[in-house]
Amino acid sequence: MNVPLTEVRDLSGRLARWPAIWLRDNCHCVDCRDPRNDQKLFGITDLPRDPSVLGVTADGGRAIVEFDPPHRGEYPLDWLAALEAGRDGGPGARRGDDRTEAGKRLWRAADFAGGAPSTRWADYLADPAVRLRCLASVRELGFALLREVPVVEGTVVEVAETFGYVRRTNYGEIFDVRVVAEPNNLAFTSQVITPHTDNPYRDPVPTIQLLHCLANAAEGGDSGLVDGFAAAALLREEAPEAFAVLAGTPVPFQFVDAATVLRAERPLIGVDPLGRIREVRFNNRSMQPLALSSAELVEFYAAYRRFAEVLERPELRLEFRLAPGDCLVFDNVRLLHARSAYSDSGGRHLQGCYADLDSLYSAEAALRRRVTA
Ligand code: FE2
Repeated sequence: MNVPLTEVRDLSGRLARWPAIWLRDNCHCVDCRDPRNDQKLFGITDLPRDPSVLGVTADGGRAIVEFDPPHRGEYPLDWLAALEAGRDGGPGARRGDDRTEAGKRLWRAADFAGGAPSTRWADYLADPAVRLRCLASVRELGFALLREVPVVEGTVVEVAETFGYVRRTNYGEIFDVRVVAEPNNLAFTSQVITPHTDNPYRDPVPTIQLLHCLANAAEGGDSGLVDGFAAAALLREEAPEAFAVLAGTPVPFQFVDAATVLRAERPLIGVDPLGRIREVRFNNRSMQPLALSSAELVEFYAAYRRFAEVLERPELRLEFRLAPGDCLVFDNVRLLHARSAYSDSGGRHLQGCYADLDSLYSAEAALRRRVTA
């Protein structure tokens, strides 16, 4: 095939910006990748240690690269262009997997002047574009509120199964949040519950929580959400040393009852290898004593209090009242949830379950492929 020389020159220039070993490793030819599933057929040690590029040609929508030691590499040009755009310095450069603050829209209560955004369950089920918006909202804002979900026990599982799988825990497939006689958790009383993330004593922690309201006739029992990433970012801005202490101190969490001894030791603010906020664990009920030096403890407590004070700021807290049929889906490694105390009348009943963000992100990406096809 005859390709104009200028195009080949342009291609050579673009490919030269990738090291030869990168090109060799990312070859798309049928010897290198199984065309049925796009998976790689070799490991890094199967490759020559120091390959070099002898020449570049174009073949329709593909770049062809000749290597020494001999190999004929193939690269779809649209694949290459997408990677170039997302590369450091490229127009769409953004490293990461959308789990860190870089992939989020951080918020405070005033960002929702009209109250928490919500979607009717019937629309969510009927319209893939609506469903896509809801899943994107969990990824970007950390929550979605579905309304008019049937007030039928067990329906919370159906909601979870629209985007993933229920994560069964020691609390069962579903847990009932209502007053019980012998509560193994303060959640199952009518007491106030301050902003927290659930199950910090698990590793991996369930990354999504669902709460489906079946009844809320009690006095009180209003809900609150706080964007833990926004709070952590504020802490980093106002007290960088406190942020560093919390990101660098493993904190033990524990849950124990007759059948369970769960323990995990993780920082209150988890950061990724680039230092970006990726996870918040905050739960005063299950936090265990830290056994550090006195100096470290004094430093930790000052930082812990400072973070808690940020989390308690009213301007960060989005407040609303769950009505029967409401189902809240939220990111449990980012948002903190809370409720006010309520009258111990048995008039409040939520059913909850856990699920995970990776499945929700997958469902969103697959749906996006379908909706935009
Ligand atoms: Fe909770």
